[in-house]
Amino acid sequence: MKKRKKIIKIAIDSPAAAGAGTLAKAISKHYNLFYLDTGKIYRYLAFLKIKFPKKFNLKFIKLKIKKLKIKDLSYKFLLSDEVGTKASLIAKNKSIRKAVHSFQKNLAYNPPKKFKGSCLDGRDITYNIIPDADFKFYITADVKIRALRRLKELKHLKKKITYKEVLKSIKNRDKSDFNRKISPLRKTKDSLLINTTNLNKRACFLKIKKIIDRKLILNGNL
Ligand code: C5P
Repeated sequence: MKKRKKIIKIAIDSPAAAGAGTLAKAISKHYNLFYLDTGKIYRYLAFLKIKFPKKFNLKFIKLKIKKLKIKDLSYKFLLSDEVGTKASLIAKNKSIRKAVHSFQKNLAYNPPKKFKGSCLDGRDITYNIIPDADFKFYITADVKIRALRRLKELKHLKKKITYKEVLKSIKNRDKSDFNRKISPLRKTKDSLLINTTNLNKRACFLKIKKIIDRKLILNGNL
């Protein structure tokens, strides 16, 4: 795999709806980094499984990943709760994860030239996809707060769902993501813990920015 030299690599892991995506986007924009929401790839595969249940085998998956464009990951239908739940089931499959890994690693280590580096968020980024990241964060929040935030997002998308349903679905997803055998979600020792329960978006961003700036200044990169 081709690797660009002297780029900034940020790895973020987090449970569902902890605010990692919002933060990663803001950080990526600020430092001009290529942002990849890796959960969207599993969501995209879940969508394909719903749409083409009979065709959904490893050969089909590999072909779709080969043809995958970043814009394919921005479709609104990928955001539904149903797709998220199916994605976490698909994400348990070792062969599927392997097929997705090279796509993710390639963008992490070889982001488009116009960017100074990359920022990826997901469940196994800090220890599997970018183990040598310059910055590693584990972002979390109380499950009830996460459910409220996800409910707000889904309501914004005009989805008919109750708080109780969202809470149940997030708890199920946590159970599956933390307890699966292959690449479970965990905080690595070298990841910095950011708990967003009592912090607004701006406060979270500034907290992370301070950590990044300090290291970049020390290394003479800022
Ligand atoms: O981040 P998001 O909630 O969109 O991810 C959907 C699902 O994809 C997660 O619940 C998780 O099971 C799976 N996932 C994963 N590894 C990643 C990113 C997401 O297993 N790096």
